Amino acid sequence: MFINWFNNLSHRTLAITILICISLIYVSYTFNSCLLTSINRTFQKSPLRNFLLSSNVLPSTEQLTTSVPNLIVNNTSQIHISLSLLRKTLNTTTTYVSDGAPKYRLLRQQGLRPSRHLPDTLIIGVKKSGTRALLEFIRLHPDVRAAGCEVHFFDRHYQRGFNWYRRYMPYTIEGQITMEKTPSYFVTKEVPHRVHHMNPKTKLLVVVRDPVTRAISDYTQAASKKSDMKRFEDLAFVNGTYSVVDTTWGPVKIGVYARYLEKWLQFFPLTQLLFISGERLITDPAYEIGRVQDFLGLKRIVTEKHFYFNATKGFPCLLKSEARSTPHCLGKTKGRNHPHIDAAAIERLREFYRPFNNKFYQMTGINFAWP
Ligand code: A3P
Repeated sequence: MFINWFNNLSHRTLAITILICISLIYVSYTFNSCLLTSINRTFQKSPLRNFLLSSNVLPSTEQLTTSVPNLIVNNTSQIHISLSLLRKTLNTTTTYVSDGAPKYRLLRQQGLRPSRHLPDTLIIGVKKSGTRALLEFIRLHPDVRAAGCEVHFFDRHYQRGFNWYRRYMPYTIEGQITMEKTPSYFVTKEVPHRVHHMNPKTKLLVVVRDPVTRAISDYTQAASKKSDMKRFEDLAFVNGTYSVVDTTWGPVKIGVYARYLEKWLQFFPLTQLLFISGERLITDPAYEIGRVQDFLGLKRIVTEKHFYFNATKGFPCLLKSEARSTPHCLGKTKGRNHPHIDAAAIERLREFYRPFNNKFYQMTGINFAWP
């Protein structure tokens, strides 16, 4: 019957029918494209997107391009996203946002109003003691959001003012902690007063490590940037013998923790500082992160399940992190091989630090048992 009807059609009618079909397909295609572009534009401008990106609910462009085949990222970095992907993304959002925590209930009731805040918590040091590891580990917690880089506000850019500083902070919603890490804060004398001025309730995290290993780590980092660097032993002592320690040399000076802590304690009570063992952060990261979560009043969400020991790297690594969902370690600049240092030089440095370490144990009430 269909064939008969088809044979009866004149060539002209057939041509018109085909033309109408093509026009319909074209109009439908254009309409869908406009719809998708419009959804995309609205989504780009929406605070929801900023919040989702900043809270890592949404995957990054890089994650999307590697994991989702139907995504096109053009050279202006505008994301064209298919409806199915958008639906998938929003479903993911719903899963996160439907968490029973009060902050998400609030979020649902009042709409998303993420904003940037000055930090509540600072990782103030100590350089080369494991500060990056601490930050990477604690920011696994969904209620911790951290600035992406070391802002150096309190030591280098204080004159720029708090509004400048705030712009470096991540978006947070109520209930989330804003964190920043700049290890030089601990040893810069103006910083305690300035942090106190920002907020006397600021919580301070201090990672400390055997000052001798720390000095060698500091030296190793400097030597990696300068090919003609003198030997550690030549820099750590005056006159080429091991009798007089050069206390003016940065890597040695920074290890006298008690001296810097005194300054902080003029502005903050000891209860507002948490000292984290750099050694234990390597051997038992979950333990130290547990302490940090308690100190910050957070639910213990980051646990041993988040870590694995990577034998090649020789350090604990993450099964997933804020930035990546695959197992990975800290970068090459963390966990460098240290040069061989003369045992007599090490022994002399240990002797030098011993009284300062003991004073530091007394001040903190923690015996770090450094040799
Ligand atoms: P080394 O590179 O000398 O071994 P910071 O982040 O404060 O600069 O500290 C760097 C130190 O963090 C490294 O010094 C390393 O010993 C220590 N560290 C602690 N946990 C680590 C981890 N999981 N991966 C790599 N390094 C870690």
